[in-house]
Amino acid sequence: MTEERALFIIFGGSGDLAQRKLYPALYGLYFQGRLAKHFAVIGTARRPWTDDHYHEVVKQSLVGAPGSAHQKTEFAEHFYYQSHDVTDAAHYVTLQKLASKLNLQYQLDGNRIFYMAMAPRFFATIAEHVKSEQLLSPDGYNRLIVEKPFGRDYASAKQLNDDISQAFSEEQIYRIDHYLGKEMVQDIMPLRFTNPFLENVWSNQFIDNIQITLAEDIGVEERAGYYETAGALRDMVQNHIFQIIAMLTMEKPSRYDATAIHEAKRAVLAAIKPYTPAQVHTNFVRGQYVGGDNLGLSYREEDNIAADSTVETYVAGRVDIDNDRWRGVPIYLRTGKKMPAKTSRIDIVFKPTKDNILPTTGNAPVRANVVTLIIEPDTGMHITLNGKEIGVSDAVSPFTLDHALDKDELAKAPEAYQRLLLNILEGNKLTFTHWDELAASWHFIDAVRNVWDNDKADGLAFYPSETMGPKQADELLSRDYRTWIWQG
Ligand code: BG6
Repeated sequence: MTEERALFIIFGGSGDLAQRKLYPALYGLYFQGRLAKHFAVIGTARRPWTDDHYHEVVKQSLVGAPGSAHQKTEFAEHFYYQSHDVTDAAHYVTLQKLASKLNLQYQLDGNRIFYMAMAPRFFATIAEHVKSEQLLSPDGYNRLIVEKPFGRDYASAKQLNDDISQAFSEEQIYRIDHYLGKEMVQDIMPLRFTNPFLENVWSNQFIDNIQITLAEDIGVEERAGYYETAGALRDMVQNHIFQIIAMLTMEKPSRYDATAIHEAKRAVLAAIKPYTPAQVHTNFVRGQYVGGDNLGLSYREEDNIAADSTVETYVAGRVDIDNDRWRGVPIYLRTGKKMPAKTSRIDIVFKPTKDNILPTTGNAPVRANVVTLIIEPDTGMHITLNGKEIGVSDAVSPFTLDHALDKDELAKAPEAYQRLLLNILEGNKLTFTHWDELAASWHFIDAVRNVWDNDKADGLAFYPSETMGPKQADELLSRDYRTWIWQG
């Protein structure tokens, strides 16, 4: 296994994301041998930590990870802490010196990865100083990793993009959407493009509708400050659900590389036309959870949530793609907090067979085939088909083919962040979001958001926690004579 060489500079090195996700992911790469002797990490943040304290923090984040205490200590010794005020030019000079020193000390070939793991309002300043204080490496590569949220509407996303583009080109920017690092999302392309029995029916000729559900059982947790400014539409639909839509519906890319895949995704997202206000009212539903006996707090009762908050914790909607392959195939989506169970799944519902000649029990219509991809928790897929009932009956009845990914193999597979970091080290942009994709999805989301912001509480439906959301979400489908495949 080849070792990658790089210096990571993490802005926000003392933060929650760094401790929960990045350090364990970097350690995973170290444990795998993809990072070994030749890597170093500079964590920067305001707090006045020492390197020793930083090492303790890093080790603390690895509790439960495999490997010996000795291995974890050796890993943590690659970490350097720099107390840093992002607005102070002098600090970037210190950072630059430390970066050059570590580059020589660890023989990093001038490779630098900048990680923005802090609030987006600082990105512009950081990018500006990275450039002016010459923190970009003159040899090797420079790559920038940006976390979500990437803007809160098209205008702010564009501003953010312009800001970071002062120092980094599109080629160097890696925008994270951790859903693209998930096993079954990565499986969409192989499933679609290497199985003729799926590839040849992947269109409006055979598919009736597509359903995407990202349900969570947790509530807003400790993230009130952020969530009150976001809501489920921005938090889950604009990014994760739109990326899933793009992977499911893009044309076959001309090659298996990031440029071709980004182009295919961009094209299909551009074919989703933003709704008019009237269309928003007809096609989108928003809800907020309400607690009660044994159901915990209502959203409005949670810490740091406004008592009259109209922020949605649930969204359901219908999206249509205006191109030859997909015209007439609704994509129904829903996501919410405090639903009955954590379940992320995609149901592709096929059109029923025409002119059936076979008997069915009670003359019921023949069931439509459904291909279900389960992203979480039981990663795998099901296909429902029709066959003969066992025994003397010749009636047709449905059965399911189940394919669960091997649990032991899955447990061994690296977590999404680790995979994404490896992709960045390898310069593989396939699992990241291109600016054009973001721009297209923000245009759509803005149209919905604007209507909701004008309507305020009007149209906000309340749903009891631990349910599938407001009944209006079912009506979205029932008016089209359809139902959600996953009923909770
Ligand atoms: C994040 C959202 O992007 O995704 C969170 O900000 C959400 O609100 C999370 O809980 C869900 O991700 P996962 O991997 O748990 O499905």
